[in-house]
Amino acid sequence: MPKKSPEHLRSRRWFGGDNLRAFTHRSRAKQMGYALEDFAGKPVIGIINTWSDLTTCHSHFRTRADEVKRGVWQAGGFPVELPAMPVNETFMKPSPMMYRNFLAMETEELLRSQPIDGAVLMGGCDKTTPGLLMGAISMNVPAIYLPAGPMLRGNWNGQVLGSGSDVWKYWDEKRAGRITDCEWSEMEDGIARSPGHCMTMGTASTMTSIAEVLGMTLPGASSIPAVDANHSRMATSCGRRIVEMVWEDLKPSDILSAESFENAITADMAIGGSTNAIIHLVALAGRTGLKLELEKFDEISHRTPMVANLRPSGQYLMEDFYYAGGLRALLKEIRDLLHLDCATVSGTTLGQNIEPARLCNPEVIRSTKNPVSASGGTAILYGNLAPDGAVIKPTAAEPRLLNHVGPAVVFKSYDEMLAEIDHEDLVVDENSVLVLQNAGPLGGPGMPEWGMLPIPKKLLRQGVRDMVRISDARMSGTSYGACVLHVSPESFVGGPLQFVRNGDLIELSVTNRKLDLRVTADELARRRADWKPQPPRYERGFGALYTAHVTQAHLGCDFDFLNREGDTPEPVTYCQ
Ligand code: FES
Repeated sequence: MPKKSPEHLRSRRWFGGDNLRAFTHRSRAKQMGYALEDFAGKPVIGIINTWSDLTTCHSHFRTRADEVKRGVWQAGGFPVELPAMPVNETFMKPSPMMYRNFLAMETEELLRSQPIDGAVLMGGCDKTTPGLLMGAISMNVPAIYLPAGPMLRGNWNGQVLGSGSDVWKYWDEKRAGRITDCEWSEMEDGIARSPGHCMTMGTASTMTSIAEVLGMTLPGASSIPAVDANHSRMATSCGRRIVEMVWEDLKPSDILSAESFENAITADMAIGGSTNAIIHLVALAGRTGLKLELEKFDEISHRTPMVANLRPSGQYLMEDFYYAGGLRALLKEIRDLLHLDCATVSGTTLGQNIEPARLCNPEVIRSTKNPVSASGGTAILYGNLAPDGAVIKPTAAEPRLLNHVGPAVVFKSYDEMLAEIDHEDLVVDENSVLVLQNAGPLGGPGMPEWGMLPIPKKLLRQGVRDMVRISDARMSGTSYGACVLHVSPESFVGGPLQFVRNGDLIELSVTNRKLDLRVTADELARRRADWKPQPPRYERGFGALYTAHVTQAHLGCDFDFLNREGDTPEPVTYCQ
């Protein structure tokens, strides 16, 4: 039932009233050709669009924005499109992760500073989902998330190609001399062949699935391929629904709860989601005032079977997942592990949303009795090398490496690693542990996706395809291997990872959730005393703001001044 009437609309503080300011606002809306009948007394819906010519995953967003507008008009709202920082995974350097918080700030302030009653958030490429949601949570006006949808399966001579995962796989084959330049070039033509985000269960698919489980999308929205006509219809439905949500005053704070975040973690484990999701979920929960401890991920991982048979941990791609019933069918399969009474933007509960779902392919979405893996896709490690935690995706690693002791081969920077990794005289064998330092939130900077360090060429030729690798970087959700990531605190600020030296023995035990450096405390103290920290990476600009305020990985890498309690006043409009 509507809770609001036109006089309670937030936008009325701009357009209502008989004074100079309100006159200006109305006359400027009319400047665009609109009449009072178009906007007076109607919910103003901000469509936050992360389209750009370089955000290749969102190349259909200009059309989709029009389709959202169609729905807003149909429901009696007034749509306005607001372009926002198009954080794209492919082109942004040094790392798009540096700009997630930028998008979050921009989203919040676009909504706050203008006459907006509700928002449709258009994202999908990795960081856009958490960035848009973080901003909308902090602003807390009614908001609905419109996921970009995955692209179609890649194709190369009849073979299915998956974003990222098959790039890494075939790049290693090329370095090992098993793929020709011509074949490599053919793959370049076939691996990304439609609009939409990466179609493996990488970070994009993980985060849009999480947005749906949290209750922030329409039911089933996250699984629809970007180019499917159902995606257009879903966009229009978002437009209609957000207008209703404004009248109902249904805000993120009415939807998100400790239980909905538990649901999100459970789903993340069941889909074999990206390790990046841990950082983003901690940051998202922080915006609601909830503190998600890394232990919570491990606790839920232990009890949650991974049932999605999707790359990089499994076999299939998001297009197959959609045809198999999509996320709703998967959630129905694990419904005993979920809080089914959580609210969603649709006005119904999560349980009601998944009830009609049908599982159409039990090979793509496995049953809990026949899972891809008995426990979840992510494990949290602690030890003297990671006092505040580290992350590994055991389901995407060779099992023999999950409990391993080996000597360290240390690279002090990514450049050093690139320069040395393929040297024939590098002292390394298949039992070595590759260590990359200074690749964390401040050291990278921006915690780039460097964590899947390449296997040295001479070992590739011997048939080695996986090794233990440790860093304070992230890795792409499409990556795989025994990669220990997000080591916290990071080496750049003096975390223990900084003090690993060539030949030190490192013990990884996924069974015991342990990551230890077998070096005495006295020796580590001596190395620390000799250490000279590097200067900050930035002296001015956004980089300096980032440097001053970004938190460590286990805290979600949000800015400290955004993830804290306190009032942010509504702007005064001087129209009433
Ligand atoms: Fe956009 Fe992978 S590059 S989701």
